[in-house]
Amino acid sequence: MPSGPLRGRIRVPGDKSISHRSLMLGALAVGETRVSGLLEGEDVLATAEAMRQMGATITREAGGTWSIHGVGVGGLLQPAAPLDMGNSGTSTRLLMGLIASHGISATFTGDASLSKRPMGRVIEPLSLMGAGFDASDGGTLPLTMHGALPAVPMTYRLPVASAQVKSAILLAGLNTPGVTTVIEPVPTRDHSERMLRGFGAELTVDEVDGERIIKVRGDAELRPQTIEVPGDPSSAAFFIVAATLVEGSDLVIENVGLNPTRAGLIEVLRLMGASIEELDAREVGGEPVADLRVRHAPLSGIDVDPAVAPSMIDEFPVLFVAAALAKGTTRTSGLEELRVKESDRISAMAEALALAGARVEETEDGLTIHGTGGELLRGTQDGHEVLTHLDHRIAMSMAIAGLVSRDGVAVDSTAPIATSFPDFLSLLHGASA
Ligand code: S3P
Repeated sequence: MPSGPLRGRIRVPGDKSISHRSLMLGALAVGETRVSGLLEGEDVLATAEAMRQMGATITREAGGTWSIHGVGVGGLLQPAAPLDMGNSGTSTRLLMGLIASHGISATFTGDASLSKRPMGRVIEPLSLMGAGFDASDGGTLPLTMHGALPAVPMTYRLPVASAQVKSAILLAGLNTPGVTTVIEPVPTRDHSERMLRGFGAELTVDEVDGERIIKVRGDAELRPQTIEVPGDPSSAAFFIVAATLVEGSDLVIENVGLNPTRAGLIEVLRLMGASIEELDAREVGGEPVADLRVRHAPLSGIDVDPAVAPSMIDEFPVLFVAAALAKGTTRTSGLEELRVKESDRISAMAEALALAGARVEETEDGLTIHGTGGELLRGTQDGHEVLTHLDHRIAMSMAIAGLVSRDGVAVDSTAPIATSFPDFLSLLHGASA
């Protein structure tokens, strides 16, 4: 349904990537790590539960601060039951890295979406370090793995731009003798590097000919930390686009993480004409943060530079919604990775937007979208529902499309939203009331 303007000040929950990592590294440090602002979504809770199954003590205090007593690098215990990763690719791939250099075995299971996602990208490098894998056909979950003790250090050049693969190898390197090296031809989110350094690991990053060379020294000892998790820019993205699209909006989103490896959407929206101001730029938990003031502005379609993709890899679904309301055509390319996220986000969004009345063409590696020039979308009709394919970001993106449609957008299920942003719908209703 057409929405009222989004106004006032809101706060989005903590960053999902940073939340996962703070639980994992806290669980490997000896002593108490304290984490405030942790995202309490299903994905992160799956990581917390898995770390408990491997020996860490993790509790949530009344005020919302989380306390983690770790087991020490090398101290993970054999889990007594399979690790249920739910919908979470990040939990799965990063934990596979941790286990790869411990002398334990573990079985990973997940929901229907996660069970389709490729794990070969981590199985291959972790096998080179000595870990053994027994995966389902096609390298998917359920899978059982056997860590190697000692694991073998190596130098690995990432064949896909993936922070999850990079992080899995760096985490495996923590309990591997010698130096483990990852070469990253295309930069991806660097939260692991920042946080590993914060916990006292010996980690260096050098730029050579545009590539990043990351080295971590093994047999690391991690010191417990106090961590404040900044707001998740990938969650803020839905509100940035909503306030941009809905006439009369003037919204401040407080405490948004603006790590340059995550800030691509803001850059692209500005090129399209968006009004996004950064207020009170500061540092929180070793990450750049600001409050964002977003005012309604008409957008124009552009050709999105594929080089920006890794810095907004999770934001394309909602960018497609913005493009559907822009004046003219927006073309995206180089987005093959979107096909192996929680859903095939290229085809899921092509179908969803078409169902809501947008003009969309799907290509092998992106979408071409002919925008309405600010006219409302039609919305879904005749009992048709958008299929979210167990993908939180499809559900939330299409909720934003609903705000700028005549008849509203119906989705088959809002349940997946709880993986990353449990309060999304109430926050959205509150801001647009
Ligand atoms: C993540 C990395 C990204 C992103 C995911 C979280 C992380 O995946 O899509 O939501 O926390 O490292 P890839 O690195 O596989 O692109």
